[in-house]
Amino acid sequence: MDAIEVIRAKRDRGELTTAQIDWVIAAYTRGDVADEQMSALAMAILLNGMNRREIADWTQAMIRSGERMDWSALDRPTADKHSTGGVGDKITLPLAPLVAACGAYVPQLSGRGLGHTGGTLDKLESIPGWRASLSNDEMLDVLRTAGAVVCAAGSGLAPADKKLYALRDVTGTVESIPLIASSIMSKKIAEGTGSLVLDVKVGSGAFMKDVTTARELAETMVALGTDAGVRTVALLTAMDRPLGRAVGNALEVEESVEVLAGGGPEDVVELTVRLAREMLEAAGVSGAKDPAKALQDGSAMDAWRRMIAAQGGDPDAALPRAAETLTVEAPGSGVLSRLDAYAVGLAAWRLGAGRARKEDPVSFGAGVTLHAKPGDAVRAGQPLLTLHADDTSRFERALEALDGGYTVSEAAVDHLPLVIDRVT
Ligand code: URA
Repeated sequence: MDAIEVIRAKRDRGELTTAQIDWVIAAYTRGDVADEQMSALAMAILLNGMNRREIADWTQAMIRSGERMDWSALDRPTADKHSTGGVGDKITLPLAPLVAACGAYVPQLSGRGLGHTGGTLDKLESIPGWRASLSNDEMLDVLRTAGAVVCAAGSGLAPADKKLYALRDVTGTVESIPLIASSIMSKKIAEGTGSLVLDVKVGSGAFMKDVTTARELAETMVALGTDAGVRTVALLTAMDRPLGRAVGNALEVEESVEVLAGGGPEDVVELTVRLAREMLEAAGVSGAKDPAKALQDGSAMDAWRRMIAAQGGDPDAALPRAAETLTVEAPGSGVLSRLDAYAVGLAAWRLGAGRARKEDPVSFGAGVTLHAKPGDAVRAGQPLLTLHADDTSRFERALEALDGGYTVSEAAVDHLPLVIDRVT
């Protein structure tokens, strides 16, 4: 077999055989298929698609390119959540310890932010001392101590995806449902979780801008998980506006701690509790404590403190703060009818909360605080947003990103419901 034969087959709208897929993934991982050949194949897949059988074969081949983790030594079921990424999406931070407090183990491998969407590891790294890199034995120790662990995937997990994702990132081949679904699910299945809840974001701040494509991605991923023996459910949730009132690494940790203390913004609490219930149900934890109660009685906070401390972090340490702030005021009186997730995400990125290249550092204190949410009444001149940055030179381009990103009008405008649909 050779790479040109496989590329031609997909270029000509053919169906790739299981043998072709197994070969090309294994050969690419070994370095026997060149990056330029794999990029041509990824582009042919983006343009011509893959059917469900091809996507399942592609996913399995990527899983086989590395190790598969195994949590069968644990005495309780495992559950994980994956979000396709958004603006202000800090849900993993309160959710993982919350589900642990309610009776399931949460072994979560997370990523870093790239572009306007934030990454869970960047957020947690704003806690002094906290470590994202753990060995498999350390992961097991943290799970036993805290019930939840959130860390970086080791290099042994789906290495084919690691290579391919980096290539897709620079060849315009990210936006393909078969490639996104197989990329996410190969890592989640290899991670060894028994059940998985997918939070597929919809709207300007998400990969998927409309409900139809988000549903197609969700159905593809649910089928991949279910076929691999992982109980998988997906929620389609709103990302036309930011989630919560904080966007940026340390700002989002602060908001997550408020949620764990029984407070926090209504939308963050609602989505955290809903996802926790889905995870406990998918994991089959019978007689689980109600997640809404575990946020109020301190048990989720206890699990958070144990989880952070077990990974070297100090849960009581002061979080980094940006040196400079700038207030954006409401341009008129009325209702904040629109606050665009992408505009706020781009502003936070330009303030230093995100990175342009994988190797760039992030500013932990940078980001945006929201003083009003879509639907709130506002008065002309009242603070609408606070921008946080390490130096004032960042403000101009952040303000450009926000230009046209919010509207104050006489009447409220309908927006997407927080939970749009459930896919099983
Ligand atoms: N996240 C992933 O892990 N892979 C993709 O292809 C897109 C988002």
